[in-house]
Amino acid sequence: MPHIVIDKIKPINYPIKSNGIEFLFKAEELIAVKTDISKFLIKVQKRDNGYLIKYDKITRPIISELKKAYLEFVKINEAKILFENISGIKEKLPNENLLEITSDLSNIDIIEVGFGSGRHLIHLAKENPNKIILGIEIHKPSIEQVLKRIKHEKVNNIRILNHDARIILSKIPSNQLESIYVHFPVPWDKKPHRRVINQDFIKESIRTLKKNGFLHLRTDSDNYFNYSLNEFLSFNKIDLKVKKNMPYVVSSKYEDRWKKLNKDIYDIYMINHEISPEIKEEFDFSFEKKLCNFDFKPKVYKNFVIHIEKIYQIDNDKELIKLTMGNFNRPEHVYILNKEKPEYFKLPAPIKENYLAHLELKRLFEC
Ligand SMILES: C[S@@+](CC[C@H](N)C(=O)[O-])C[C@H]1O[C@@H](n2cnc3c(N)ncnc32)[C@H](O)[C@@H]1O
Repeated sequence: MPHIVIDKIKPINYPIKSNGIEFLFKAEELIAVKTDISKFLIKVQKRDNGYLIKYDKITRPIISELKKAYLEFVKINEAKILFENISGIKEKLPNENLLEITSDLSNIDIIEVGFGSGRHLIHLAKENPNKIILGIEIHKPSIEQVLKRIKHEKVNNIRILNHDARIILSKIPSNQLESIYVHFPVPWDKKPHRRVINQDFIKESIRTLKKNGFLHLRTDSDNYFNYSLNEFLSFNKIDLKVKKNMPYVVSSKYEDRWKKLNKDIYDIYMINHEISPEIKEEFDFSFEKKLCNFDFKPKVYKNFVIHIEKIYQIDNDKELIKLTMGNFNRPEHVYILNKEKPEYFKLPAPIKENYLAHLELKRLFEC
């Protein structure tokens, strides 16, 4: 972790600005930093030989901004650096194919959920050179591997998102997608709530698919097949096509495995006939009143969680609240600057689960 050790810390009146770097406030061992392009927290910890300065993992900044902040912090404290490991650290260049949850997804034509080794994803990209294909995967090593393959194969129409696909569809405009592929999803026989195919996912698929667009589920699990068929059947304005042991253009790693075992493979095509209204979801993450009467017990609701973890005192009437909120499987860690009109230190990603958690947070804790 990039850090420095300095010999002393001076009492400082925050906020203070030095060479374009603003130190906004101090909340116990955390110090809020604002640069031209980022906002993050650094942590100051007393050590035998001085003070260790490192960054807060939740608000993790890029290395170049962190370096600038460390150096200005040394200056305002008139301190000496006793140790540093930042000069040797190189910035990891952002990969242009890798998107963030906050990225604009309004140009995506085709989605593949859980692409694994990426054989089918790359096939899709080559077959549809004028379309933008989004691969959504939760497994980081698969993402690393596929990003390398994309570079090697020189395909330029794939975008990758490291997230839970069940959350991402809510960020896509209505009637936009030509197709959604879910090939060999994890059956989760013992934890069905973790399955990709569920009522919300189908509803969002119907909304985001164009008229005559389709969702293709391919699975080796008869249990998952029966479960999914039942889920699809509760929707109107769709056609379902079911196939068994249908040869397919690409055989994925999983498919190769099941074929060797002579397992049956099932396909469901859900064809959408609905033209859905545009959703205009404005997620307003503002607060009206200061938050108080905190309860540190995690609160688990149907679609989201809230867990207030820690309160850092800033001064008599301000504090920094550290909390976890949003989707149960992929909660987001955030800070709230609690004052007369509280604000998030960095806004949560604009997704439904975060918004629901935000509304509940207001209902529970606004004074
Ligand atoms: C059994 S593998 C199949 C991979 C690939 N489709 C194939 O046919 O070889 C299932 C993949 O889905 C991914 N996955 C599971 N749940 C997911 C979710 N909610 N969102 C995105 N990816 C998910 C897993 O990480 C895994 O790579």
